[in-house]
Amino acid sequence: MQKFLIQGNIPLKGKVKLSGAKNATLPIMAASLLIRGKCYLDNVPKLTDIEMMGEVLRELGTNLIRQDNRLTIDTSFIQKEEISCELAKKLRASVLVLGPLLARNKRAKVPLPGGCNIGSRPVNLHLKGLRSMGANIEVKKGYIEATVNSGLTGSSIYLDFPSVGATENIMLAASIARGTTVIKNASRSPEIVDLSNFLKKGGVKIKGAGTDTIIITGNKEIVPITHSIIPDRIEAGTFMIAAAITGGEILITNAKPEHLGVLISKLKQIGVEVKLDKDKIMVKGSFPLKSFNVTTLPDPGFPTDLQPQITSLACLADGESVISETIFENRFTHIPELEKMGAKITRRGKTAIVKGVPFLHGSCVVAYDIRGGASLVLAGLAARGTTEILNIHHIDRGYQKIEEKLILLGAKIKRVED
Ligand code: UD1
Repeated sequence: MQKFLIQGNIPLKGKVKLSGAKNATLPIMAASLLIRGKCYLDNVPKLTDIEMMGEVLRELGTNLIRQDNRLTIDTSFIQKEEISCELAKKLRASVLVLGPLLARNKRAKVPLPGGCNIGSRPVNLHLKGLRSMGANIEVKKGYIEATVNSGLTGSSIYLDFPSVGATENIMLAASIARGTTVIKNASRSPEIVDLSNFLKKGGVKIKGAGTDTIIITGNKEIVPITHSIIPDRIEAGTFMIAAAITGGEILITNAKPEHLGVLISKLKQIGVEVKLDKDKIMVKGSFPLKSFNVTTLPDPGFPTDLQPQITSLACLADGESVISETIFENRFTHIPELEKMGAKITRRGKTAIVKGVPFLHGSCVVAYDIRGGASLVLAGLAARGTTEILNIHHIDRGYQKIEEKLILLGAKIKRVED
């Protein structure tokens, strides 16, 4: 087991280049199962979640080769339509192979997925969508078992909630289904747009990705695709907050500012300077910071994946900030850890009321999930003294070499064996 040691209270200064988006790469890796042949993905981040998805694809008979940031996925020899429990329990996105396997092989057996422990995370909307396309699905002994007699057929599907994963799974199945599928109340996330752009390159007709209605007309013969993954907006947001919380100045390159609209306006409201260029974001923090309110919402609302990080910032803002988490019911595991560092937080159900303090102090804290872990890194960078963060394997699932990028910005952070 490894841990981070951070010597805090240093304003971060310099330039950081973003990696590709984890949450765009995972569904696109699953999409490769719809294709027979080699796909080339560029700007693929080096993360344990991506490695685990690679293991899921390998188990199905896919050949994967990584050369730097390029991942070559050869699906010519897929023999299986079933994945094992061990892998699926580690990665929520493993459920994204359900739609493609079912569409391709008329049968799929996929364990109920695991992933970050941030809430109950059901898959009912994924299953509802696939059932309305003609799938027979049973959930037995922890497995989703799906069959379809004569192939999936396009359908009109209303999602009760704009679930990212359900939108992706249905888009994937619809891409080689007969006829046209309409997804209403679809997720509007940028990662859905990236998936749509990938599938369109292969010959699938898709309209409306990025809006709440997506129309997909299937194509049985999707051709192999070369595609570059969009930059990671959550990594970008984390570095933007790193500049704000340390009173530093960071230039973020390889970015798409249009994916970060809500965070940009929130930071400006707090008193942080943000300047945008085509693919660059400059963030300059200075104290005092104004208190603020944040409510997480489906895209294009404030992303739940940046809630823990902005909660750390609230700890050092003047006055009382209110953070409401509406997407996941258990996404406050960072709060007791921040309290160990001197934060003053009262939790009432889905809401955290954060009373700003003049400074945080170093402490020994534990990461319980990816973004909660990132929030502790941010708090540690700002805190006086040394912060020790345990369980950093969670952080490695979603951040490529975070300590190396932070060291280039002047941070004193070390990865050590526990
Ligand atoms: C994806 C992201 C995750 C992000 C989340 C919300 C990936 C790999 N992960 O997760 O980082 O935090 O979107 O933006 O892209 N729900 C149901 N039934 C379903 C599916 C979801 O009730 O069938 C609920 C969930 O319990 C949750 C909410 O919908 O409360 C959002 O989940 P969803 O958008 O599906 O998130 P993921 O795709 O799992």
